Amino acid sequence: MNAIEVEELTKHFKSITAVDSISFEVKSGECFALIGPNGAGKSTTIKMLATLIQPDSGRIHIMGHELSHEKKKVRKRIGLASESVILYERLTALENLLFFAGLYHVPKSVAMRKAEELLKLVEMWRWRNKTVDTFSAGMKQRVNTIRALIHSPKIVFFDEPTLALDPQTSLIVRNLIKRINNNGTTVILTTHLMKEVESLADRIAIMKSGKILIISTLEELKSNFDSEVKKITVKLEDNLSIESMQKIFGTLKDVKKISKNLDRLEILYTSSNTFREIMRIITEKHLRVKSFNTSMPTLEEIFIKLTGYEPQERV
Ligand SMILES: Nc1ncnc2c1ncn2[C@@H]1O[C@H](COP(=O)(O)OP(=O)(O)O)[C@@H](O)[C@H]1O
Ligand SMILES: [Mg+2]
Repeated sequence: MNAIEVEELTKHFKSITAVDSISFEVKSGECFALIGPNGAGKSTTIKMLATLIQPDSGRIHIMGHELSHEKKKVRKRIGLASESVILYERLTALENLLFFAGLYHVPKSVAMRKAEELLKLVEMWRWRNKTVDTFSAGMKQRVNTIRALIHSPKIVFFDEPTLALDPQTSLIVRNLIKRINNNGTTVILTTHLMKEVESLADRIAIMKSGKILIISTLEELKSNFDSEVKKITVKLEDNLSIESMQKIFGTLKDVKKISKNLDRLEILYTSSNTFREIMRIITEKHLRVKSFNTSMPTLEEIFIKLTGYEPQERV
């Protein structure tokens, strides 16, 4: 069964078409990632699915319910965690969770057990009786994330869940997402971090300018692009500068990008002729190669190719 079905969903803000007639389905239990540059329309899409804003046109079904007619039913079954922290500063972590559970009419004893389970999962149990105003940003964000899960929703939307989090908190939140997804919760995730997508998502939709450019599994995406973009990584003995590398290899027709990663040179290219050319140059110039290998493009490289944007790694 599909957890979510979206048909020709559209949203305008004055002259901007934030979401432009998109259609997709999310299977029950799936982790579905929406990625795309800033302004692509990811948050607007999530907000419409989470009933926060009204679409201009199109249809949304959530667990078989038509969203526009059955908002209340749908709201009980979904959770939304975004970067904006919605917590009462003067209440403790536990009081906050119980308060939000109350809004969903979760029985007190059930809420108590759920709060304990979730607080432990994000390593906040020992801080449960401290007020939120004493917490660091990372601690607040952890409580804020589990707030979205307190009513045991079947579908959870995470809009940039690790944006601006420290690495430790990011890892905790990522593990939490992985865990609830493994337990059968459907997850829809937006993120800038390609590593996050690679470690969590079953399928990916790439958005740009309100449209979905492609929906695919990571494997399909990579193998489709393998015939187009290839990468060669060369480890050279000589410590040549990136400028001289660009001079040497940048003249080749189908070389798309040259970069240096520690002592490794990475060259992205698009035709197999180019591979032979690269090898020819290495031999001709007597560059001493320690090792080299060719590989599938990363999601990041595919993303750049499709959208023309460099995803921002914000750690
Ligand atoms: N409340 C709003 N009012 C006006 N324009 C908006 C509003 N929300 C989003 N937009 C515009 O819609 C477009 C898509 O935004 P958004 O969905 O936030 O993109 P993303 O989450 O992919 O970065 C952007 O051009 C943004 O400026
Ligand atoms: Mg956004």
